[in-house]
Amino acid sequence: MSDEAKGGEQAQARGMPKWVALLPIVLIVGAMGAIGHHHATRNRVRHAPGSLTGEQLYKNYCARCHMPDLKGAGAYPGLRGREVPAEEFTQLVHQGKGLMPAFPELVADDVERLRAYVAERRAAGG
Ligand code: HEC
Repeated sequence: MSDEAKGGEQAQARGMPKWVALLPIVLIVGAMGAIGHHHATRNRVRHAPGSLTGEQLYKNYCARCHMPDLKGAGAYPGLRGREVPAEEFTQLVHQGKGLMPAFPELVADDVERLRAYVAERRAAGG
């Protein structure tokens, strides 16, 4: 009985260092991603591609015109009126339109997160 309990403790103790050992690798890979992105995009760097959630991306890139509540303001349309198809959404973000600037630095993953976030807020009505 006590041997069994001991074995359980040891297994737990062995599991810990393995998990902790992964941390530096994750950090290094993350840092390399940030550095690579920095060189690629110069002064427009704000994040490593794929590192932000849709909500964070929206706040960083879009909320200043479309507003945090997605209702827009003045010349800037709200994003809750119609569901913009994925292809059109990507084109808008990458190429801009009228007063909307282009965001070529947003990789496909980021654009998809943004689109999903906007669609979710739209569906939730808030
Ligand atoms: C500088 C202000 C500005 C910023 C920042 C901005 N937009 Fe826009 N956005 C506009 C304007 C203006 C339009 C209307 C363009 C037109 O049709 O002439 C627009 C249109 C859109 C539309 C189409 C809405 C519709 O129903 O036709 C979508 C979707 C959109 N923006 C998403 C985004 C996303 C996502 C971001 C962040 C990556 C973003 N916008 C950042 C100004 C902005």
